[in-house]
Amino acid sequence: MTEHGRPDDELRLRLGDMRRALITDIDNTLIGDPAALEELLGRLADSEVPLCFGVATGRHLEITLEILEEWSVPLPDVLVTAVGTEIYYGPDLRPDTGWSEKIARQWAPENIRGILADLPGLHPQPPENQRAFKISYIVPAGDVAIVRRVEALLSDGDLPASVIYSHGQFLDILPVRAGKGAAIQYLAGRWTWPPEHILVAGDSGNDADMLLTECLGVVVGNHSPELEWLRGRPGILFAPGKFAAGINDALDYYGFLHTEPRNLEDSR
Ligand code: GLC
Ligand code: MG
Repeated sequence: MTEHGRPDDELRLRLGDMRRALITDIDNTLIGDPAALEELLGRLADSEVPLCFGVATGRHLEITLEILEEWSVPLPDVLVTAVGTEIYYGPDLRPDTGWSEKIARQWAPENIRGILADLPGLHPQPPENQRAFKISYIVPAGDVAIVRRVEALLSDGDLPASVIYSHGQFLDILPVRAGKGAAIQYLAGRWTWPPEHILVAGDSGNDADMLLTECLGVVVGNHSPELEWLRGRPGILFAPGKFAAGINDALDYYGFLHTEPRNLEDSR
């Protein structure tokens, strides 16, 4: 079925009707505290307003589905996977081909792999973590300087790309237009969700760009040090609660699930 075929109309009817969207990172944000997760899922199920539940993760689709099942999380309406390079819609996991077409421009993975092949300290992640639009490495713990060296090599080679550093040890190279933040902006545009009706939640480096969008944001209490620099930014709550408890804090703070939310319009 084409982009403009019937499934697209169904999606538009469903997603275009949503009055709120919660898009959350999975590891160490949504999952980690089973009781807090259960409370969150209960609150989402009881929401007064039609709500889109989405995840945005560094993991690839198959393993994302496994971990959600393991934690008894219902299948999300939207799955942003592989660090914002792939978008799928539940329940049939239909890929958003418009997104892949958009990010494919200027993407030269072979040249990028080639130019980085001899850089000491850069170790490719296992093959299943290498995706069409995501090249992933492991770097020595805490070696921030290697990030600058990678950026310099790409820039010298005239290879535009986004370089994302997470958990002090993962390095992802993505198309220049990709990333969790860009994917969420694309979703907001496609389904006409105002940014202030979207709440994004995260804990580590690959969440930074989505926290920096116009959407409401929450950094959970157990976040990595690499997100500290976002503290004090308008529209980004540093929640006391850890894992899903931090998301619950944000639902309260923003009054996010109320028909007349507080703090929504004036938070940015
Ligand atoms: C996930 C992915 C990995 C990526 C990391 C940081 O762990 O599996 O490939 O590097 O997230 O984005
Ligand atoms: Mg995480």
